[in-house]
Amino acid sequence: MSPSLKGRSLLTLSDLTAEEVRYLLNLSHRVKGERRAGEVHQRFLGRTLALIFEKRSTRTRCAFETAFGEEGGHPVFLTLDDLHLGSKESVEDTARVLGRMFDCIEFRGYKQSTVETLAARSGVPVYNGLTDDYHPTQVLADLMTVEERFGSLAGRRLAFCGDGRNNVARTLLIGCAKMGIHVSIVSPTALFPDGRVLEEARELAAADGNEVRVTERVEFGVENADVIYTDVWASMGEEEKLAERARLLAPYQVNAALMAKTGKRETVFLHCLPAVKGSEVSAEVIEGPQSLVWDEAENRKHTIKALMLATLGAEAA
Ligand code: CP
Ligand code: NVA
Repeated sequence: MSPSLKGRSLLTLSDLTAEEVRYLLNLSHRVKGERRAGEVHQRFLGRTLALIFEKRSTRTRCAFETAFGEEGGHPVFLTLDDLHLGSKESVEDTARVLGRMFDCIEFRGYKQSTVETLAARSGVPVYNGLTDDYHPTQVLADLMTVEERFGSLAGRRLAFCGDGRNNVARTLLIGCAKMGIHVSIVSPTALFPDGRVLEEARELAAADGNEVRVTERVEFGVENADVIYTDVWASMGEEEKLAERARLLAPYQVNAALMAKTGKRETVFLHCLPAVKGSEVSAEVIEGPQSLVWDEAENRKHTIKALMLATLGAEAA
């Protein structure tokens, strides 16, 4: 029997079992196929989605907005210039009001506690569209992209090269370990992921006998990798750290020499985007034949649609 995600929120990938991720990925492949075939569905007809953005976005906003709108739903985009959230009105009160008006809420911003409060107090499904801690809808798209290329996830190897303590690296640790992918974080020791997320990933990986590696040695970290992944050196809200990060992370730039160190010709390159070409990745790699970043960006939309269909109980409509 298929797992039911109706009424559920996605605040971190820790919220989902491997079976539930599997269900969402299958649904994502299905909705991508429907879109490619030109099928029109109206599975969100009569529904409303609040999109709250404290930080900027291209992909996440557009994925939620187009996925919801093309299925007949009405998305409402709200920034901190539009809402009282957190200034004149508490997050709790905003959550209770939005929950009376909307069927679901997406939040992108700084604190994980904000998205947790929205979920706890609104009474409707809440989706984390990126916080300082996690980026779960991104990693659903990453998993889909890996599966499209290789046909399966279990037993593959992914190496993240860069800021190992950021939201994307932390979410990849959980998502890969959950789905049976060996995962390496390759970064200077000052930017190693925190012990709590590593412990969670190691527990998940141990269940399948998989490996979670954290290393400052590039050769060791990327050996045999099927996927090399990177992200910006300074995440949103950390711009003042850029000079220090550039100094720490320059040896971890993903370029042709680093890609060659995997020892595999079929290794692919992923990046959540936006990318700073010439910093965390060379133009040659991101624009080259190993790069799947545009498929990955498109897959944000299909995975987000699948997530909303499942959590609104609309997938069978
Ligand atoms: N990858 C990602 O979240 O992109 P945006 O910041 O453009 O939403
Ligand atoms: N780590 C990046 C991801 C952007 C999608 C950031 O938080 O800015």
